[in-house]
Amino acid sequence: MKSKSSKRIGIFGFGCVGQGLHDVLQDNPHLSVARICVRDKEKLRTLPSHSFTYNPQELLQDDSIDLFAELISDPKEALLIVRQALKAGKTIVSANKKMVSENLQELLALQQEFGGTLLYEAAVCGSIPILRTLEAYYGTEPLQEVSGILNGSSNYILSKLDSEGISYAEALAEAQALGFAEADPTLDVCGYDALHKISLIAAHAFGAVIKPEQVLRAGIQHIRKQDIALAQALGARIRLVASARLNKNNMLELQVLPTLVFPDSELYYVEAEFNGVQLQARYAGDQFLKGRGAGSHPTGSAVWADVSAALAGYKYSYPKFKYDADENLRPVPLEEEDVLKVYLRTTNPNLLPEVPWLELTTFGEDPHVGQLVGAIRRKDLLLYLPALKQTMAFIAQLPASVSAEQVVNASNIVLEEVA
Ligand code: HSE
Repeated sequence: MKSKSSKRIGIFGFGCVGQGLHDVLQDNPHLSVARICVRDKEKLRTLPSHSFTYNPQELLQDDSIDLFAELISDPKEALLIVRQALKAGKTIVSANKKMVSENLQELLALQQEFGGTLLYEAAVCGSIPILRTLEAYYGTEPLQEVSGILNGSSNYILSKLDSEGISYAEALAEAQALGFAEADPTLDVCGYDALHKISLIAAHAFGAVIKPEQVLRAGIQHIRKQDIALAQALGARIRLVASARLNKNNMLELQVLPTLVFPDSELYYVEAEFNGVQLQARYAGDQFLKGRGAGSHPTGSAVWADVSAALAGYKYSYPKFKYDADENLRPVPLEEEDVLKVYLRTTNPNLLPEVPWLELTTFGEDPHVGQLVGAIRRKDLLLYLPALKQTMAFIAQLPASVSAEQVVNASNIVLEEVA
């Protein structure tokens, strides 16, 4: 039973997250779903047809609705909905990380001009309350680093390759069937989804509004069993790690890269669709948050939390933003000179471009496979990454403490095991 004083929510989208929100709201007598706007009239639904509308304006122009939840996958349509709601000074919560991260400045300006509210906790790490933690708890304390596993689907795939030895295609199909993957799963496996999430984290943690091309990004789409076996022989696991780190010169290092993690890292133990975020704060020290990063109910839970907070008047304050005298947002300088150590394997070694490696060790006996460990400046990797990706290379960051010799030895162990 819903109480008479219950607030009415208009929902856009009834996919994995929309259904999850609908389910979790059954537990809340103070919130009722007005209507749900969906696109496909023919699709079989779990609710009676009168629960749905096919016209977004029926929701957007209904003044009896207290708040909207935008949970569709198309970022262009999502932007139109959120824009219109904010222009009307309304409150809306969204789970669309691509839409929010790519349009953050406009969405902030609309809130300032028209007085509406946009919250998007569900867009970053599913059920982990990372944005609220950054805003409410770390709003004043300087942070050195926020990094971790931000994409449940790729983590699910990597865990399954590591522990069950199933194929990449099978693991991806499972992640899709379980509702973890995006409608377009290349967003997950190529690292775009983690990039959108780390961009939003960078805004709240460091006051940085960043462009996607400023972030070093590689995904797991070209990983092979051989790479998993190599990591295992080194005593490591491969995880897709996104990080935003302020170095000692107050410059931000940003990246989304497959990374070898060892048992001394919390990320080593993050399995399946779970996400894990490590924070390094100047005074609090290290913290680690772990939880379900994808899935219907965990994400529905995050939307529910935003809905409740928004109804109570909560807004993000972006406490780390800094402005100049003309009230323009001051950009955070990005680090370009630091050096990364990477492992690369490609089945097209003849296509590898001339790259300004600072150190380079090539290895392997198969003429059809190129393998290397190289050290390279961040700005050079940013520049050459598109050409490296064209060789279908799998690229992973190695901790500075792992030597090329150790990697070569591990590769020899893998070869002996196969032989
Ligand atoms: N596709 C996303 C993931 C869903 O796998 O993490 C949650 O944002």
